[in-house]
Amino acid sequence: MAIHKILVTGANGQLGWELAQAAHLFPHFEFVFVDRNAMDLSKPSEFNGIIELFNPDAIINTAAYTSVDKAETETQLANTINANAVKELAIIAKQKNIPFITYSTDYVFNGNATSPYLTDTPLEPVNFYGKTKASGEQMAVEANEKTIIIRTSWVFSSHGNNFVKTMMRLMKERDALNIVGDQKGRPTYAKDLALASIKILTLLNEGKSIAGIYHYANTGETTWFDFASKIKSLAGLECNLTAITSDQFPTPAKRPRYSVLDTSKIEKEANITIPNWETALAQCIAEIKNA
Ligand SMILES: NC(=O)c1ccc[n+]([C@@H]2O[C@H](COP(=O)([O-])OP(=O)(O)OC[C@H]3O[C@@H](n4cnc5c(N)ncnc54)[C@H](OP(=O)(O)O)[C@@H]3O)[C@@H](O)[C@H]2O)c1
Repeated sequence: MAIHKILVTGANGQLGWELAQAAHLFPHFEFVFVDRNAMDLSKPSEFNGIIELFNPDAIINTAAYTSVDKAETETQLANTINANAVKELAIIAKQKNIPFITYSTDYVFNGNATSPYLTDTPLEPVNFYGKTKASGEQMAVEANEKTIIIRTSWVFSSHGNNFVKTMMRLMKERDALNIVGDQKGRPTYAKDLALASIKILTLLNEGKSIAGIYHYANTGETTWFDFASKIKSLAGLECNLTAITSDQFPTPAKRPRYSVLDTSKIEKEANITIPNWETALAQCIAEIKNA
């Protein structure tokens, strides 16, 4: 069945918003965006009726419980949104025989590796948020083997809450900042991830079989400290930055020391060329400055 109408959850999130910005570039697709009011992911029993109403040819689930520290205590809600809701969407997609794309995280891994995580590296979530996302992955794939899961990491955008915008604000407000320098990962521009997601729908429309788990993050790797330093130079801000250790910056939810995702599978199978994180960051900061 050809894909024309695509239902996207999480309209106000970073990825949902970037998909909406990109939609006009793909006039053969009709995107329908739903926010929390139109489709509350904490109420999976309501999904069937809502999805029947829109009758989409594909579902992209960008909505998620993403408050990583709060998830340690708000466990039930985090689990309903990140696991039960994802399973329910996978079931509905299977019943309707339509593609279903959902997203997961580098936090499904333990953070102790020394080389990039492959899509089939065994899961050992580093915190409760990671545990809910891992459950969501497993239940969705079990319920619908055609589910497409894209794990990503360190997401930023000119829209929403993220490290880039927080750093730019803090660097304007303060003379000095301490930034964790012993955690490594791959930043991801939500705009690039949005385009990669649409590329996958295009390939599905062409009859290519894509299913299972993929990783997407911008190329190159960095630490939060080096990421902040690059933000400072690209934004032309004055602020004294000092690298600190994870032990000096305790958080309710544990963070991984090493969370570099290997993206070769999506690059090869979906023929996607991924931009470097510094190029992507420059584009995002230019967009923030022009806003
Ligand atoms: N952000 C990251 O660094 C990161 C890293 C790894 C993986 N991911 C994954 O990537 C995907 C996209 O993340 P993102 O960065 O776009 O997240 P985001 O900016 O935090 O957006 C999440 C969206 O989910 C919505 N949401 C939360 N609870 C909901 C509910 N009960 N019903 C409906 N919508 C609800 C939020 O709505 P409101 O706007 O109303 O709050 C928000 O719009 C998610 O699966 C996330 O887990 C993100």
